[in-house]
Amino acid sequence: MSQTTAAPDITLEEAGRRRTFAIISHPDAGKTTTTEKMLLFGNALVEAGAVVSKKDRRSTASDWMELEKRRGISVSSTVLRFEHDDKVINLLDTPGHSDFSEDTLRVMSAVDGAVILIDAAKGIESQTLRLFEVARSRGIPLITFINKCDRPGIEPLELLDHIESTLDLMPTAMSWPVGDPGNLLGVVDRRRRTFHRFDRSPGGRSARGGEILALDNAFDALDPAWTRAMEELSLLDEAGHDFDVDGVGAGISTPVYFGSALTNFGVELLLDAVIELSPAPTPRPDRRGEARELDDDFSGLVFKVQANMDPRHRDRNAFIRVCSGRFERGMKVVNARTGKPIALNYASETFGRQRETLDEAFPGDVVGIVNAADLQVGDTVFEGEPVRFPELPTLAPEHFIQIRNADARRHKQFSRALSQLAEEGVIHVLTRDGGRDPMPVLGAVGRLQFDVATERMSTEFGIEVLSDETNWKLARRTDEAGAEEIRTSGLAEVRTRSDGMIFALFTSQFQVERLERDRPGLRLDRLVG
Ligand code: G4P
Repeated sequence: MSQTTAAPDITLEEAGRRRTFAIISHPDAGKTTTTEKMLLFGNALVEAGAVVSKKDRRSTASDWMELEKRRGISVSSTVLRFEHDDKVINLLDTPGHSDFSEDTLRVMSAVDGAVILIDAAKGIESQTLRLFEVARSRGIPLITFINKCDRPGIEPLELLDHIESTLDLMPTAMSWPVGDPGNLLGVVDRRRRTFHRFDRSPGGRSARGGEILALDNAFDALDPAWTRAMEELSLLDEAGHDFDVDGVGAGISTPVYFGSALTNFGVELLLDAVIELSPAPTPRPDRRGEARELDDDFSGLVFKVQANMDPRHRDRNAFIRVCSGRFERGMKVVNARTGKPIALNYASETFGRQRETLDEAFPGDVVGIVNAADLQVGDTVFEGEPVRFPELPTLAPEHFIQIRNADARRHKQFSRALSQLAEEGVIHVLTRDGGRDPMPVLGAVGRLQFDVATERMSTEFGIEVLSDETNWKLARRTDEAGAEEIRTSGLAEVRTRSDGMIFALFTSQFQVERLERDRPGLRLDRLVG
């Protein structure tokens, strides 16, 4: 073992304290508000509203890109770290728009669990279904939080049915709302048999929620709202809606919590659930399927690269999820892709836009490396015993445009901008032979990715692009042998992504099926996984 590796027991102990998760939700369901209230518990914010100003969706701790501000969507992911109940919580942000599902997918590779946040009045909205499916595809435990229960919404039993049928996850109500929609009296904590009285304090500005009572003496049995809630709870008991830890761990069932982030109600129960039900980091399998133990030498996975976060400096941040061992600032590691050594000198932890220098980190933590020019999304870095984690999953692009530089003389900047965006995973850059192409095709899962790409080319690189629509509708991954056959078939266009992956672009599903029929054995992967 190398010198910088901590005593194994310290690493294991620290890893056991980590809870690394993300919140996934539809825009406006209350992710920012919930995040902020969670931070209150960790004393990371002195007062709710200190960072998040909701009016006009002005900047928040995690929203920083001009485009996000204008559109009111969260494009980029950042990390918030705080402590609660002796646990270190790493909360990774995800974009709220399904056009950025690929970003969410990458974040899912860096977390050990996720919270699905649903607006009580809206249920699961179609646009967000994809994000939830992306989270599910990773097989990580999912906790559901039904937010905005202070307002009229869908009946709780109906919501449970809705979750079960839409997400194909067995919901288990862990808390249960008491009161009429729009007049919440409180929630029952089913496991602890307590009643948390709803406290309508203005703005819910304090960290703690309202009064907690034992269930038996919580309410007058004749109160109609209470009686109804008790009936509903016995229905749940009869229907076998019991908590199943193994089912949660296996991604088959989801514990459901009801609350209201705005009034800071039920958020503490949610945070307790994250601590209790979201697992601590576990050993991560490498490309050969062998686990890198938590107390092995340091290793980490680059799941996000973001350039120019700070408009005052041209920078490039790489976010590394620590997978094993102890990270120490200044340590020398090897990039498994290039085999080259790299010194992790400028390490920081981020809190929204703020950065603080980070001296050490343990499995589960996320380290931001400033000016990490050599790191790309999906890279593994390690110390000591070599390791390389599996390729990060991507989604097949479904939208394609062809672009060219409005000012052909600036071709170098044009190429540089495209490589930068491709390395960050902002967009798929597809060229004829994988090299420089004055008219590359951009592929995206959602069209907003094009807006982000062209806006960033303009503001960060001074490149204006002209774009043309194309007829391609879907892409499949193939290999060299497949590419040759596809070219001769004339049924699809072959393009190479900047990382060397070969794609066949089709104008319709029919063409894909025809090729599959005509040329069995041809590699045509859907890419995901
Ligand atoms: P997002 O990050 O998921 O996009 O949602 P965000 O937290 O920004 O919340 C969206 C809107 O929903 C905000 O209102 C917020 O105040 C409101 N909200 C969040 N949680 C609750 C809740 O539990 N109950 C109720 N009633 N509202 C909630 P806004 O009108 O955009 O801002 P503001 O004018 O209220 O500040």
